[in-house]
Amino acid sequence: MRIKIIGTGSAVPENIVTNQMLSEIMDTSDEWITTRTGIRQRRIAVTETTSGLASQAARKALEDSGCSPEEIDLIIVATFSPDRCMPNTACTVQAALGCKNAVAFDLNAACSGFLFALNTAQAYMAAGIYRTALLVGAEEISKTVDWKDRSTCVLFGDGAGAAVVQAREGTPMAFVQYSDGTKGEVLTCSEKALKNPWAEPAEDPRMLCMDGQEVFKFAVRKVPECIHEVARQAGISVSQIDWFLLHQANSRIIDSVAKHLGVSRERFPMNLDRYGNTSAASIPLLLDEVRREGRIREGDLVVLSGFGAGLTWGAALLEW
Ligand code: COA
Repeated sequence: MRIKIIGTGSAVPENIVTNQMLSEIMDTSDEWITTRTGIRQRRIAVTETTSGLASQAARKALEDSGCSPEEIDLIIVATFSPDRCMPNTACTVQAALGCKNAVAFDLNAACSGFLFALNTAQAYMAAGIYRTALLVGAEEISKTVDWKDRSTCVLFGDGAGAAVVQAREGTPMAFVQYSDGTKGEVLTCSEKALKNPWAEPAEDPRMLCMDGQEVFKFAVRKVPECIHEVARQAGISVSQIDWFLLHQANSRIIDSVAKHLGVSRERFPMNLDRYGNTSAASIPLLLDEVRREGRIREGDLVVLSGFGAGLTWGAALLEW
């Protein structure tokens, strides 16, 4: 059993925040952000919610797939920035869309979240448990960053992307996924401090913190490795892969991966200039864009690769 993407959708907040706008409220510049990251603007939520964006993207993906809400038997929302700890975001999406036959749960693997959701759906389908899944990556990172920390807040944006995937006869796609908790401290985002009548009163811990250079080195080493690995699993060479849809964190990371793999940069679509790093939403947001532009054709080989906090990373190879 293999999986096929049969519908995609996305949703972003209305509010556009340019680099110039950031330079008016903190010590940064369009030049610094553009040359170091490739990001020119991002969407920052004002009234939107994580679950609202997730539901909007999911609804569009469902419409695009032509499936009825009842046909969906699994919903996974990848997010590290839900509106509420419970109910989970996936149950909120289920209720909004009327997918009454679906089991719904969230998954947190930070920026690798959508990829891990895809691989989870693939495993359920290979086992014959579910047939049609709605996968969503949705984030409001703007509520997790410290807006006084210019080294992180300029990098991120809010948004959601979704895909409907269905089981098909055929050999399974190739995928790899990895985690290394021992390196977790290079990218963290704390929740609230322990507060109860027995614990010492503590201040709420810092929000998103990152060692940018360590994350950079990790990404440029691990992404090419795992793309080579899925190609090997599938018995093809990297040069036969038509499209490389990478987590949209930094254009210099994408340049470096293309160079390591010896593949033309044109086969790496990019939209981080407009959305910044949207964590779990970035791959499905890009997927929806390239699909609607008609750039990917039936039979194309597409690799998706994500990396992020945990540390977590991985890749999946699909035939379109
Ligand atoms: N505007 C202007 N200057 C800034 C700035 C900003 N927004 N943020 C940091 N700086 C300054 C620093 O204070 C530092 O100044 P100093 O030299 O006077 O100390 C200087 O710029 C260089 O900082 P540094 O951290 O060395 O820059 P860098 O070249 O490593 O680029 C990142 C920083 C974050 C862009 C880069 O490390 C990166 O992209 N890492 C990967 C991050 C990522 O992808 N994370 C998500 C993974 S899912």
